[in-house]
Amino acid sequence: MNVSVSVAESLRGALAGLLDGLPPRQAAGAVERLIANYRGATPTDAPILRDRADVAAYAAYRMPATFEAVRSALEAFADAVPEWAPGSHLDVGGGTGAATWAVSAVWGGERSVTVLDWAEPALALGREIADANPALREARWERARIGAGRTLDEADLVTVSYVLNELTEADRAALVDSAAAAARSVVIVEAGTPAGYARVIEARDRLVDAGFRVAAPCPHSAACPIVPGSDWCHFSARVSRSSLHRQVKGGSLAYEDEKFSYVAATRLPVTPAASRVVRRPQIRKGQVLLDLCEADERLAKSTVTKRHGDLYKAARDADWGDPWPPAEQ
Ligand SMILES: C[S@@+](CC[C@H](N)C(=O)[O-])C[C@H]1O[C@@H](n2cnc3c(N)ncnc32)[C@H](O)[C@@H]1O
Repeated sequence: MNVSVSVAESLRGALAGLLDGLPPRQAAGAVERLIANYRGATPTDAPILRDRADVAAYAAYRMPATFEAVRSALEAFADAVPEWAPGSHLDVGGGTGAATWAVSAVWGGERSVTVLDWAEPALALGREIADANPALREARWERARIGAGRTLDEADLVTVSYVLNELTEADRAALVDSAAAAARSVVIVEAGTPAGYARVIEARDRLVDAGFRVAAPCPHSAACPIVPGSDWCHFSARVSRSSLHRQVKGGSLAYEDEKFSYVAATRLPVTPAASRVVRRPQIRKGQVLLDLCEADERLAKSTVTKRHGDLYKAARDADWGDPWPPAEQ
């Protein structure tokens, strides 16, 4: 079994036990309260995740999806820096540690891991489930307010996943600048919505201004070619649904697709994709239509037909978010 699959399975196992003993209706109620809170105003003075029930609901309901989104972003990043693995990882606003699990799924080996968050119950639960992952047993879980006025300790890799949304504009800018000062590589993941994409672009601009190069998803570090307001760059990660999901959302689908926007930027030498598939490919009879973001800073459509031989076969296997053409072509 590859490391990524076994980490995902360990996470599922660790999360499965969390709601044991909590009546299903109570668990669903905690999730619904949390969703309502997340729709509210940005909390600037106190955490949303206040107690164990909030955090257990967050972890059981959201962590599999944030894990898959971050893993997908990190895999694209790893493709662009194939010789590199982080020796230290700082997860800012890490909550229950989804990104630490994702890092351990993408890069084997040992590293120092630190999670910063202001919600003590989230850190406590993160520490508890991390026991199921040997790569995280020595991780440090530190209570800290992030944003303006807080510098970060140096780390090879800083992750900021689903956090910018919870910060004021000033705190967002300060956090990205302090990540740029502390890290060789920074990976930021947000919800795959127009607003999430806008926060990613704002962060991307700051990282590029600080001397970073974009490793993924963009094939270049110049301005994003999307005309603001006309569209938003986002991707999709498939997540198995738990019984809690089915209870809260209804329906019987075995999976759902987590939409996310991201940027991975680095000071390392980097080989970004030649171009990237930025929508789900459309498969027609004898042809595949690809929407691409290209190295020459343009968005383009490409039609790959049977006449293209092996490239056509590759296009039929291509997925939203993949580099194009595939490396071996
Ligand atoms: C939506 S959760 C994301 C958690 C985790 N990164 C993930 O991807 O699953 C947002 C996290 O940011 C933390 N957070 C929000 N504002 C913060 C602040 N000002 N200081 C420290 N942590 C903060 C919250 O406590 C919460 O754990």
